[in-house]
Amino acid sequence: DAPKPLAGKRALVTSGPTVEPIDPVRYIANRSSGKQGHAIAEALRRLGAEVTLVTGPTRLPDPPGCTVRPIETAREMLAACESALPADIAVCAAAVADWRVAGESDRKLKKDGGGPPSLALTENPDILATLSQTGPGRPALVVGFAAETGNVVDYATAKRARKGCDWIVANDVSPGTTTFGGADNTVHLIRADGAEDWPTMGKDAVAARLAEAIARHFNPPSPP
Ligand code: C5P
Repeated sequence: DAPKPLAGKRALVTSGPTVEPIDPVRYIANRSSGKQGHAIAEALRRLGAEVTLVTGPTRLPDPPGCTVRPIETAREMLAACESALPADIAVCAAAVADWRVAGESDRKLKKDGGGPPSLALTENPDILATLSQTGPGRPALVVGFAAETGNVVDYATAKRARKGCDWIVANDVSPGTTTFGGADNTVHLIRADGAEDWPTMGKDAVAARLAEAIARHFNPPSPP
């Protein structure tokens, strides 16, 4: 059997988009496929972690061996994450909607001849920043993602500080890259001591390499 360096560790992974209702039939969402987050859940499980995957709607099968908590809105994602604590590891790979509609309608909005409605937006909770807050329940290792177009490492380094997480996986989503929805990803792993550039590889390979780095963080090689 493969070694299980993360046996006994609890991991929380967020994945997919969030879906924010406008009214009972309409919503605001985004193009996240969930491929990277689901692959990370599966890779952590393969190394022996007990994994809870909190995910927005995707077309992906549930990763084997993981507890899957399906949610729609950012607020539901935050509540599901908080109820999955305590955890040793949190990886926030979800594309959480930054805004939701303020005062969503409980009836379908009508074309009443008065012209299109205007939607007022309000800010969603930041799940990564919330999980990163220091306190007794904070996971020992909190990992976020940063999708940037240009100055990827600089922006992601600033984001790491702003969010208060331990590591950031930064990827370039400039036009011409196929990160969103595609199979491959080109990432940089940003930790307190600097950035590591990884070659372009499949999202499964990024997940496996990230899970290995997490396992090494918890079981550092003993000094000679
Ligand atoms: O601020 P930005 O959206 O670029 O940050 C991306 C990182 O923050 C990702 O890890 C994402 O999962 C997380 N995030 C979150 N909750 C939000 C917004 C982003 O967990 N409301």
